[in-house]
Amino acid sequence: MATSSTRRDPLAFVRPDLLQLPGYVGVEPVESIAARLRVPSDRIAKLDGNENPYGPSPRALAALRAFDAYHLYPDPDLRRLRERLAEYTGAPPESIVCGNGSDEIIQLLCTALLRPGEKAIDLPPTFGMYRFETEIAGGVSVPVPRRPDFSLDLDAVARAVDERVKLIFVTHPNNPTGNLLGEDELHALLDLGVLVAVDEAYIEFAGLERSFLPWIRQQPRLIVMRTFSKWAGLAGLRLGYAAMAPDLAAVLYRIRQPYGVNVAAEAAALAALDDRAILMARVAAIVAERERMFAALRAIPFLRPYPSHANFILCDVLRGDALALRDELRAEGVFVRHFDKPGLRDRLRISVGLRRHTDQLIDALGKAGARLGLL
Ligand SMILES: Cc1ncc(COP(=O)(O)O)c(C=O)c1O
Repeated sequence: MATSSTRRDPLAFVRPDLLQLPGYVGVEPVESIAARLRVPSDRIAKLDGNENPYGPSPRALAALRAFDAYHLYPDPDLRRLRERLAEYTGAPPESIVCGNGSDEIIQLLCTALLRPGEKAIDLPPTFGMYRFETEIAGGVSVPVPRRPDFSLDLDAVARAVDERVKLIFVTHPNNPTGNLLGEDELHALLDLGVLVAVDEAYIEFAGLERSFLPWIRQQPRLIVMRTFSKWAGLAGLRLGYAAMAPDLAAVLYRIRQPYGVNVAAEAAALAALDDRAILMARVAAIVAERERMFAALRAIPFLRPYPSHANFILCDVLRGDALALRDELRAEGVFVRHFDKPGLRDRLRISVGLRRHTDQLIDALGKAGARLGLL
């Protein structure tokens, strides 16, 4: 409560727990870094955001060009999109929730589930949004680190579950490590008696047949999240969705921003679902390029890449400083991701781009490695 002496300070009215939070560190736009470093924009390989280098599909672009109803609000119930997603996923429309990116679904889950002090578990190294949204909601984020091979430490997860834990976030395949969640691992998590949100943002690169989405029919405590950002190249339009028990979906629909998914995102997503052949051919090309990039990275003496089922590869930086290497690569126009977080400080995550981006990356690694004395 603000006293008379603090009444003029707007921060005195803010939740004190929020003032302590560090905030989410996203990627700085490449253009601004490139301008600072004076790297010409046509020389940039943007391999730091796990984006799709092919962009949106032709039908999605055509739908956006033809769309003329920007002056109307979106359907708050997103009926058409949910029906199409139901056909696509095999889950009933009433079990599907759409969001402004899957980030919004993570936020909705935290808002719906966590009272102050209640907990969500995540399994680092992993995607930072789970912790971010848990804490914004006033919850407590409980990290249970993975084992050295990035598999789950199920005993430690079981020990971390107490009556205040509502939810476990687990990523399949995981970002940034690229490994899959095993069926046995998911069974073990579901046996713990709390909700389990499986984030399948990259599942198309692993093969849709590996998805756990069909399990929602048997597993009322399972939520499976997906996105159009990666396989469909629509990261900038923001469209995610999730499948879950219909009763839980109804709660998320009641508390979501009614117009959070905009009409352009809806039009592009519907068109992308009609353009799956071309989009999945691009996914296959990215997967082939991932394997070529993996072999090339393995030949670099100061890196150790980990096999990946997603559209990025995590590498140990075996000599020197990973952050310095990232900066040297930037000077060559190659942008990769470093995380200043436990378990990741000596590593870089490199997104898979086009063939020419891989070639530029490998060339830049040679030059940067020579400059830093790593060779
Ligand atoms: C594991 C994971 N989940 C979710 C997202 C966010 O997806 P969206 O763009 O749909 O918000 C990302 C983005 O990088 C991610 O890596």
